[in-house]
Amino acid sequence: MSVSTLNLSVSDKLSPKKTKAQPHLVVFADSDAKILGNLDSGHLDRANALIKASGFKGSVGESVTDYGIDDGHVISVIGTGSLDKLAGQMPKLGKATFNTIKNSKSAVVAWGDVICQKHFGQFVNALLHAEYRFEPYKSKKGDKIALSAVEFINTQDTKADYENALAIATATHIGQSLARDVANDAPNIMTPAELAKVAEKLGKDYKDVVSVSVLGEKEMKKLGMGCFLAVSQGSDNEGKLAIIEYHGKSGKKKSKLKDPIALVGKGITFDTGGISLKPSAGMDEMKYDMGGAAAMLGTIKAVCEARLPLDMVVVLACAENMPSGKATRPSDIVTAMNGMSVEILNTDAEGRLVLCDALCYVQDNYKPRTIIDAATLTGACVIALGGVRSGLYCNDEDTLFALEEAGEYTGDLVWQMPLDDAYDEQLKSTFADVQNIGGREGGSITAACFLQRFIKEGQAWAHLDIAGTAWSGGDNKGASGRPVPMLMRYLVGQAD
Ligand code: BES
Ligand code: MN
Ligand code: ZN
Repeated sequence: MSVSTLNLSVSDKLSPKKTKAQPHLVVFADSDAKILGNLDSGHLDRANALIKASGFKGSVGESVTDYGIDDGHVISVIGTGSLDKLAGQMPKLGKATFNTIKNSKSAVVAWGDVICQKHFGQFVNALLHAEYRFEPYKSKKGDKIALSAVEFINTQDTKADYENALAIATATHIGQSLARDVANDAPNIMTPAELAKVAEKLGKDYKDVVSVSVLGEKEMKKLGMGCFLAVSQGSDNEGKLAIIEYHGKSGKKKSKLKDPIALVGKGITFDTGGISLKPSAGMDEMKYDMGGAAAMLGTIKAVCEARLPLDMVVVLACAENMPSGKATRPSDIVTAMNGMSVEILNTDAEGRLVLCDALCYVQDNYKPRTIIDAATLTGACVIALGGVRSGLYCNDEDTLFALEEAGEYTGDLVWQMPLDDAYDEQLKSTFADVQNIGGREGGSITAACFLQRFIKEGQAWAHLDIAGTAWSGGDNKGASGRPVPMLMRYLVGQAD
C-alpha cells in the first residue's frame, strides 16, 4: 500500500553532517523575497544570491534552486506569499516542498521560528500527501522518488511539541493513505466483502487492541435490518456490516468497551442508483461512494498507530447498490432495525438506508458517548459547499465545537448545517412512518434529518456529509482521505 517510508525528524538547529553528501537545504522567503527564520550568515548569503539571480518573487509555492555545492548543500528557496495569510497556505507549501526535494536523497527543511506546531502538522501532512501514488494496476510504475529522509528545523515551540506534532501527522498520514488506497481501488475488486476484509486485517495488525467481527446478510436479516438489506438485495455481491472494536483504554480486547466513541461509515462500493438508475456520465465516480467507510477505516488505523488511550467502536455499512430482478422498487416499504417503516421512493437515496440500520446497531450494542457518521450522502451537499468544507450536522454542542475546532486545526474544514424540525417535515410519508427522500430543496439537510430519526433521545451524534470532499474528479482524480485528519485531531482531543 502507498504509505510513505520517509524518515522524518525534528531538530532545533542546523548542524553540519559528518557525511560527505550534505542534505538538500530548503528555506522560505515571503512576498518581499525576505528570507524567513534564523539562518547562519553563510547560508543566508547563498540564499539571497539565489533570490537575486533568479528573479524570485516569493509567491506561494514558488521554488528556486541553487545546485552549486560549494559547501555541500543544494539550496532551495520556496515562497510563502504574504505572511498574514501563511496559516492557510500549508497545503500548497507542503506540496511545493515535496516537489522541490523529491529528487534529493535527504533534505533539511528550515522553518526556524516561522511556524507553530499546529501549522507544522498541516505542513507535514501536506508534504506526505504529495508523495502518495496509487498505481497497483499500472504495469509501468511512476518515477522512483530518491528522497528518504527529511529533517525539520523549527524553533517557535519546543522540540517536544514538534515531535508530538510529527508523531500525530505520521499516524494520520498512515491512516489517510489507507483511506485513499481503499477508496481509489476498483469497485470490482473492492466489493463489500473485500472492504470488510480490510477491517479484519486491522484486527490482525493490531492484535493487542483491536477485535473485528463481520455480519453477512443472513445475520442482518435476523437482526431486522430491512433498510440495509433493501439496498444490498439487488447486488450479487453480498452486503457486509463490519464492526471494529478498539480497546485503547480498556486494554484487554476481551473486556467490554469503556465509554466508547462510535464511528459509522457509508460503504457503498458502487452506487448505480439501483432501479432509480443514475445517468451514465460520471457514474464511474460512484466507486467513491464508500468514502465514508474508507475514512473511518483510515481514522481507526491512525488511532491504532498512535495508540490513543480511548475506546472506540467503528461500524462500516458495506453494500453495493445495483439494479436487478431482485432489486428494491421505488414505493417498496421496509422496516428498519428499530421497527420504523420506511417507504423507499427513490432507490438512489440508499446511503441513509444502510446507515440507519448501522446507527440502530451501534446504539443497541454499545453505549457510545458520541456517534459520528461520515457519508458521501448527497449531491446537494456538493452544490452547497463544493469541495472545500464537509457538511457537519450535530445535535450536541460540545461535539460540534470540538469537530469545528479540529477542522480549523488541521485545515480539513467542516461547516455547520441546520437540523430544524421544519426540514424534517419533508420526510412525511403517505404510507409508512417515513419516506427516504425529502425532495430537491435542502437535499443534504433532509438526508441528515432522516438519519436523525434513528438517533435515540439524549444520544450525542454528528453526521458528516463528505460528498464534496472525499475525492476530486477531473485531471486530479483521486480520493482525498478526508476527513481523516479532522477526525484524528478530534480523537486526540478526546483522549486527553
Ligand atoms: N452517493 C450519492 C450522493 C452523491 C452524488 C455524492 C454525487 C457525490 C456526488 C447518493 O447515494 C445519492 O445518490 N443521493 C441522491 C439523493 C436523492 C435521490 C434524494 C442525490 O444526491 O441525488
Ligand atoms: Mn445513491
Ligand atoms: Zn450513494
